[in-house]
Order: sequence, then structure tokens, then C-alpha cells
Amino acid sequence: MYEHHSTDLSVTWLGQTMPGCLYNASGVWCREESELEAVRQSAAAVISKSATLAPREGNPEPRYCQTPLGSINSMGLPNRGFAYYLDYARRYDYLCGKPLFLSLSGMTLEDNCEMLRVLSEQGLPAIPEVNLSCPNVPGKPQLGYDFAATAAALDAFDRAYSGLYGVKLPPYFDPAHFSAMADILNRHPRLAFVTCINSIGNGLVVDVESESVAIKPKDGLGGLGGDYVLPTALANVREFHRLLPGKEVVGCGGVKSGREAFMHILAGARAVQVGTCLYHEGPAAFARIAAELAQLMRDKGYRSLDDFRGKLRVL
Ligand code: SIN
Repeated sequence: MYEHHSTDLSVTWLGQTMPGCLYNASGVWCREESELEAVRQSAAAVISKSATLAPREGNPEPRYCQTPLGSINSMGLPNRGFAYYLDYARRYDYLCGKPLFLSLSGMTLEDNCEMLRVLSEQGLPAIPEVNLSCPNVPGKPQLGYDFAATAAALDAFDRAYSGLYGVKLPPYFDPAHFSAMADILNRHPRLAFVTCINSIGNGLVVDVESESVAIKPKDGLGGLGGDYVLPTALANVREFHRLLPGKEVVGCGGVKSGREAFMHILAGARAVQVGTCLYHEGPAAFARIAAELAQLMRDKGYRSLDDFRGKLRVL
């Protein structure tokens, strides 16, 4: 399915080889076990919805809106609770060759550490991606924009968890912030990857006809995904790829065809997540995007992702 006439989309990282480079962005198609299994069938890896210790209903609806350029959401971390995803991870078929990532988004640092401790004790092959960047819980700022708090959190994660892990970062917009965050991340050898980017937080979509906002929570403020975010996502992938030697970057943001997946990998992404497009198209998106990426690679004479990963030219 992932071998496209001598074009190889497989990815080797974190000590394993996955059969392709595409999987879901956390939050999309991953709250229920049926959704997670549908992703497992059609993507190269699986990541679960960001878990809190206790289940959450999330924010009031409407909390997601599709727009011509992408999406705005303020879901508010609706999820089945950590125990549900832990149970799924216990039963997951790791032999299928598709890694399982567990997204964690505790309401407190101690909650995150508690979930990490449990995962460590269980010794499961599932890999945590700690979400430092949810913009949608009213009154709770994105941790990744507080550098001191992020540094303290990573120290605590290192004590709580003994394996390799990753973090989901918010988008940064200034070289000073890229390098300040990279300095912090580089102090943590077991931090194996960063996923760039979460949505661009607290955008506002306005409907001219109704003279209204598009979603209910936070008086309409929400995280942007889709076309709006592609250049910002690529900037974050390229900058962290340069600034985090020995760590991997997972690209996330604005991928809707093989072309954007190619751009992320060219900018340095090891693997690529699909969010808004998956929400609108469903898991069939993975095979379509993979086929488009393989065709683009054939057109350019590339046989594997290593042939062009991180080789974006500058002028
Ligand atoms: C949400 O559930 O509000 C989305 C989570 C996120 O953007 O991190």
C-alpha cells in the first residue's frame, strides 16, 4: 500500500520502521477506539486524542467550523480520560508495525507526570507526545509560550518517564523564540521529537451575513488549522530541524495533498501529521496523499524520503 512502484515512503525513527510517513494529528479521528482503529488501518502510525486524567466533555458547541481556508476549533480537550487510552495501548497490535503515540494534556503538571509515571511503570511500547500547546481551555494559557514553565515541565517529565518522548509545540513567530525554546529542548536527551505545530491559537473567524463569530467558546476565539497555517508550520519545522540536532521534527499543519507533505519533509520533517484535511475527508485522505507524494517523488526522481528530507534550498 505504501510502496508506490519503487517509491519508498517508509520512515525509520525511534528505533522502528513505519510503513509510511503519514498519520493523524492528535485531536482528529482519535477520540474513540473505532476512530483510532480506522486510522491504524489507513495511516502509518496512530496518535490518540490528548488525554486528561479524568474524562472531559469539552467546550460548548458549536466548537468546530470549516472555512474556505481551513478550520477554527475550540474543542476544549473532549476526551475519554487517560485510562481509556491506556487500555487501548495495552491491547494495541504493535506487531502491525505502526507506532502508537499517546497524546497527554494534563490539566496540571502533576497530572502530566502522573500519566507519564503510569506509562513508564507499564513499560508499553506506546510513545508519549505531551501537548504543551492547547489554546482552548478558558483561563489556561499555552504552556509552550511560557519558557520557564516549559523548562520546569521538561525537568519533571524526565523524572517521571524513563523512555523516549516528544512534545507538541505551539507555533512560534520570532527567531528569538525559536532559539530560546530550542535551548530548553536541547537540555533533554530523551526528548526525541517535537511536533510542529499545534493550531495557531486564538484566531477569530467572522461571518459577514450573520455578523457573528463562527464558534461559541471564548466568544469565538479558536485555533486555526488548514491553509491558514501552512507557512507558519513550515517555518517551525525548518527552524526546529536546524536547531535540534539529533532530535526529530514531526510536521503538522496545512497538509491536504502530496505537495504539502513534500514541503514538510523538504523542510526537515521526519513524519507528517494530517489534521484539518482528515477531519473533512476521513481516513481515505491518507492513501490519496501518499499516492500524490509518491507521484511527485517519481516526477522528481526521488526514491526515498531521505533523498530530499531537510534539503530545502535558500536563495
Ligand atoms: C482541543 O481539544 O481544544 C484541541 C487540543 C489542542 O489544540 O491541543
